[in-house]
Formats: sequence, C-alpha cells, structure tokens
Amino acid sequence: MPSANPPLEPIKFAYWVPNVSGGLVISSIEQRTSWDIDYNRRLAQIAENAGFEFALTQIRFTAGYGADNQHESVSFSHALLAATQKLNVIAAILPGPWHPVLLAKQIATISHLTASRIHVNIVSGWFRGEFHAIGEPWLDHDERYRRSEEFIDVLRGVWGEESFTYRGDFYRLHDYALKPKPLSPLPQIFQGGSSRAARDMAARASDWYFTNGNTIEGFRAEIGDIRAKAAANNHSVKIGVNAFAIARETEQEARSVRDAILEKAIPEAVAGFHDEVQNAGNASPEREGNWATSSFEDLVQYNDGFKTNLIGTPLQIAERILALKAAGVDLVLLGFLHFQEEIEYFGAHVIPLVRELEARQAATASAA
Ligand SMILES: Cc1cc2nc3c(=O)[nH]c(=O)nc-3n(C[C@H](O)[C@H](O)[C@H](O)COP(=O)(O)O)c2cc1C
Repeated sequence: MPSANPPLEPIKFAYWVPNVSGGLVISSIEQRTSWDIDYNRRLAQIAENAGFEFALTQIRFTAGYGADNQHESVSFSHALLAATQKLNVIAAILPGPWHPVLLAKQIATISHLTASRIHVNIVSGWFRGEFHAIGEPWLDHDERYRRSEEFIDVLRGVWGEESFTYRGDFYRLHDYALKPKPLSPLPQIFQGGSSRAARDMAARASDWYFTNGNTIEGFRAEIGDIRAKAAANNHSVKIGVNAFAIARETEQEARSVRDAILEKAIPEAVAGFHDEVQNAGNASPEREGNWATSSFEDLVQYNDGFKTNLIGTPLQIAERILALKAAGVDLVLLGFLHFQEEIEYFGAHVIPLVRELEARQAATASAA
C-alpha cells in the first residue's frame, strides 16, 4: 500500500451551503443560519473573502428530519456564483432524477456564465423514501454506483469529445454533439460516499472523493485504499473530508458548545435519520461506508462531522488540519453552527495559522 504523501499544495477549504433548512445538526440548539437566498449570497461573499475556495450545495427532493425546505442545487449554485467573484461552487447531483446529458448542458451553460467556477458532486443516494416519493426506481447499493460511474463517463464524453456515442446499461447516446462545451478548465467531478463501491469508483472515475467525518486513522485507511487502487488504474484523485468546526477562544468553550448541541439533540429525528441511512454503507455487500458504524452522537451532525474533531482553539484546529494534510487530505469541508459569523472567525483566526504552519513545514523540508 503506498504511503499517503502529504499534498504539497496549500490545503483547500470548502463549506456546506445551507440551502436546506434546519442547519447541519439535528438539535434544537439555536443555529443562527438560514436557507434563504439573501443569507446565502452574503455567506458566499464572506466565505470567499475569508479564504474559502469552494462551497458545496446539497440536493434533497423531500423533507427528512427537520430539513423541511430544500432549494434545488444547480439553480442555487448559479445564484451564489452570480453574487461572488472567485468562489467555486459544487452542485450536488443525483443520477436517477438527473439525466447526464441534461446536467452536462446545464453545467456547460453555467460554466460560460461564471468563468468556469461551477463543479459537480455526484451523490449516489441513501434516502429511499425520497426516491419513492418522486417515483424514481431505487437500485441496490452497488448498482447505484454502477449507474453513477456511467453518469460520469457520459459527462466526460459529452464535455470532452466533439461527438459522443455511448452504449451503457443505464445510458445510451448516438453521435451527440454538445454545444457549447463548458469553458476550460472543465468542471471538476466530485463524488460523495465511502463504501467499497464508492472508493472503487473514485479510484477509476472521479477527480475528487468526498467522505464523511472520521478519525485520522480511519481517513488514513480510506486514503491508502483509494490511492493504491487509483495508482493501479493510472488515475489520480484528490481527497476532501467532512468536519463540523467549532473554533472558540478556549478549548473548554468549544467543547461546551459541542456538549450543548448533543444535549439538545432531537432523539426521534436522529432515530429516523439512523433508520434511513441504513440504505447507505450498511446496505453494501461489505457493510462498510458512510454511517455504517455511526453512533447516536455521530449522527447528530448529518455527516459524522464531530468525529474529525476540529473542535477547540484556532491553534488546536490548525494543528489538526495539518495532521489531516499529512494523512493525504487535500480539502476540508466544513459545517458550522452560526455560518456567517463562524466562517468569518475561521477565516480570521484559523486559516492564517494553517498557512503559517504550512510555510514553516515547507521551510523545514527545504532546509533538510
Ligand atoms: C460530502 C458529502 C456530500 C453529500 N451530499 C449529498 C447530497 O447533497 N444529497 C444526497 O442525497 N446525498 C449526499 N451525500 C451522500 C452520498 O453521496 C452517498 O449517497 C452516501 O454517502 C452513501 O455512501 P456509501 O457509498 O458509503 O454507502 C453526500 C456525501 C458526502 C460525503
């Protein structure tokens, strides 16, 4: 298994766009955030000034556990791009509801409208109730990934080739010529999920692999597996990991915020979410992947974000981010309790420390 060489580039920061109501924790604690467009436009501007390179929208078609309102991801991403200058926005997409050619066309146009700042996150699905509600067939776990990989093949073919023919099990195209193509550089293809099928797909097809929160040892195992498989396929894939950040002046203050979130967790909603996510990693043949071993506390943050432990003082968080980078992580995806004010604080107090530690590391490496 190849060692996880620490990426040389500065680690990148992304934030979860709150385009779904209810915030990012299943708790009745006050969350000063909003899913409306005015809040989100302002948040995107704050984030790009704070040093965030990417924003990730979410796709949901129906309410689950508190998320009563869900703005659509592609149109919402475009609105954020129109309100910003340099932020990149990643739109989440579900194969099934989307046909890859429809998406290829939407994204090609948005690429022209926004100077190549739009990207996509292919999510393979975990919410069976949502598919049932909109009348979409629900495929078995690994079949969902087979369809996602064909979806990515079609996107790349339609964006990259003058005229594209494809004969897959899910999609068929006949000499289709998409015009205009997206601007160069082409949109980057992210994916979410951490099961064996997700890792295999990342090692063959995606530009970026996004995974739920985890311990550093857990991330090392995932990254080692993906990098070994990608090397065998002559493919290169970058890694993004989720974390729920709580940066405060003292560690005690930060920990007490986490404790308060957990004390005010909504047990019936967490239990409902637990039942639904059994259709993710636990439904895979290996019973590995997202939420396969999540505890009640892990599930209070939708994507196991407490596990990554970016909770503490700015220096503690910066040091942990450097440890993630050393484990092979290229990007940290962050959720917050009070998005606008906490992204501003993170940009002012944590990112500069990360850059300082990275510069110190680079100086030590070049002196050695
Ligand atoms: C960073 C990240 C973002 C995700 N965003 C969404 C989303 O917006 N909508 C959705 O239905 N699933 C989303 N997912 C879920 C995954 O795409 C995938 O369906 C699920 O995690 C199952 O993973 P598994 O392969 O480990 O079973 C996201 C996952 C991650 C890690």
